[in-house]
Amino acid sequence: MCCVQRPSLGVRCSEAVQMITVAVFNQKGGVGKTTLTLNLAVEVARRRGNWVCVVDTDPQRCLGDWWRLRKSEQPTLVECRLDQARQVAGVARQQGVTHLFFDTAPRAASSGLLPVVRDADVVLVPTRPSAMDLRAIGGTMQFLHEANAETVAVLNACPPRGLCGESGVARQARDALEDWGHEVAAVSIGQRTVFSSALADGWAVSECEPGSKASTEISRLWEWLIEGPLAMGEPAPAEQDPTANAA
Ligand SMILES: Nc1ncnc2c1ncn2[C@@H]1O[C@H](COP(=O)(O)OP(=O)(O)OP(=O)(O)O)[C@@H](O)[C@H]1O
Ligand SMILES: [Mg+2]
Repeated sequence: MCCVQRPSLGVRCSEAVQMITVAVFNQKGGVGKTTLTLNLAVEVARRRGNWVCVVDTDPQRCLGDWWRLRKSEQPTLVECRLDQARQVAGVARQQGVTHLFFDTAPRAASSGLLPVVRDADVVLVPTRPSAMDLRAIGGTMQFLHEANAETVAVLNACPPRGLCGESGVARQARDALEDWGHEVAAVSIGQRTVFSSALADGWAVSECEPGSKASTEISRLWEWLIEGPLAMGEPAPAEQDPTANAA
């Protein structure tokens, strides 16, 4: 576990700022947990005054590998075991981190994960819209429900939308999740190759393709979260800070 290193660019000096904590979890592998974590983290770090820290609790260290390719100060990275997560959150809050994102491993549901999902302001559950992925989501949602976690499913890697908005596959997936009683983010993320290429080079989509559909979806997803599930905790309206992620 490394220390929480303060970046120098455009970050609030006050250490009394409320910290927003987001956990990203799904028992199923390959659904986009790491992709969503790093893209949302960079999106938030681009907004003036925010200090964003990503925490990799997955022994595969995919998030850490992505981070090591970067030349940007933000987000800062901590790699730790699940049983160290609470301690990391405590240090981050004390240091003045404004937004903390936890990436988790597949099949991580355990007593060790409970504090992470219970303490989070929201737990995002990315899922692909396929029948197989939707069938597999029950165990994840049950675990989060029993943990009393604030949970939002996020449709990821959806086929391109039709003329009337969301594609049929995504709409059916949304309907199914809602019928099962799960909250679903109003903004879904499309299947776009830039998500893979950006990740492989240590970028977020907003950095390598600013203004693209992928980047806009991530931005709109964060806007939706701070107007909805995170509305209580998010600090004052943020501006874009184009210098904050300059490589
Ligand atoms: N919206 C998307 N469009 C295109 N490719 C995507 C999208 N989301 C994720 N991917 C790709 O799918 C693969 C799996 O994504 P990712 O590693 O984020 O999933 P994960 O849930 O973190 O996996 P694991 O459970 O192994 O940790 C990666 O190659 C990633 O680039
Ligand atoms: Mg991952």
